[in-house]
Amino acid sequence: MSAPIETHDSIRAVQWQGDHLRLLDQRLLPNAERWIDCRDAAQVTQAIRDLAVRGAPAIGIAAAWGVAMAAQQGTPLEPVLTTLRAARPTAVNLMWALDRMKKRIAAGADADALLREAQAIQDEDLAANRRMGELGAALIAPGSGVLTHCNTGSLATAGYGTALGVIRAGVAAERIARVYAGETRPWQQGARLTMWELVRDGIPAQLIADSAAAHLMKSGAVQWVIVGADRIAANGDTANKIGTYQLAIAAKYHGVKFMVVAPSSTVDMATGSGEEIEIELRDPAELLSTAGHRTVVEGAQAWNPVFDVAPAELIDAIVTERGVIERPNSIAMQAMFGC
Ligand code: MRU
Repeated sequence: MSAPIETHDSIRAVQWQGDHLRLLDQRLLPNAERWIDCRDAAQVTQAIRDLAVRGAPAIGIAAAWGVAMAAQQGTPLEPVLTTLRAARPTAVNLMWALDRMKKRIAAGADADALLREAQAIQDEDLAANRRMGELGAALIAPGSGVLTHCNTGSLATAGYGTALGVIRAGVAAERIARVYAGETRPWQQGARLTMWELVRDGIPAQLIADSAAAHLMKSGAVQWVIVGADRIAANGDTANKIGTYQLAIAAKYHGVKFMVVAPSSTVDMATGSGEEIEIELRDPAELLSTAGHRTVVEGAQAWNPVFDVAPAELIDAIVTERGVIERPNSIAMQAMFGC
């Protein structure tokens, strides 16, 4: 008999404490489980910039709490909204959450109402993830193998995860028999975070080097690549962690299906195509060092874009809490997400 969907789900990394925000510091995992207490919006902004909290939905949720905390402390909200918005450029969930808070502020919401709004954003994300888990798992034939990229789990969301939520649900429903996770260089979200979540929640998985992905697909061990998203444009083009684009190309070549899993807060109908999505460039030092140790010769330079865009034509299914779009295009996106 299949396990219930709530199994394999023990992690909550963003926790409101009544007067401050507690974050599980993702920079230190898996070697240390240390919590950071953010006591004002500036500290939340810094935590988002530095990747102490990361993952598209999680940074939106953290930002919403940052605004609510500022209101609680009587801090002027306009500058808080502006600095939080600029913390990272690619994941639209950040802007979406701030716009939602801004709308409530414009409508005259007091601090208590803003705290309730932040809580609603967090609760709705968890509910969306559970729904996407069911919808995504239903697409997968029993006995399948899957490959995922980056970290899209409880750490990256309010809990349960997007792509990793589908994997949690698919394993619980005994549809997924094999799970592979790519390392996700340079920051190693897959190696450090996804493997930590999977081990902790008792989901058997194997880590692969990013460069082993095409070889894995050729072996026949995986039937789906399942990834999250940082921004989905109006035509279905999807920005996600660097390396996603090459996985989508390799999947198409090998006849492996490609699934994007993201809540509707990741859909940006104001952005026509992937060409318009700003790709975050981060410090080359992230690439020149591993775990704080310089691994590349002094004097070497590096280019460090941390997202790329998988075009809609390479995507077999976009799974959101509103439903599944197969072979996405502008018309199908408009039908589900147009006003
Ligand atoms: O730079 P990060 O670690 O914040 O990037 C996160 C990703 O790209 C995730 O795959 C994406 O946000 C989906 S998270 C549910």
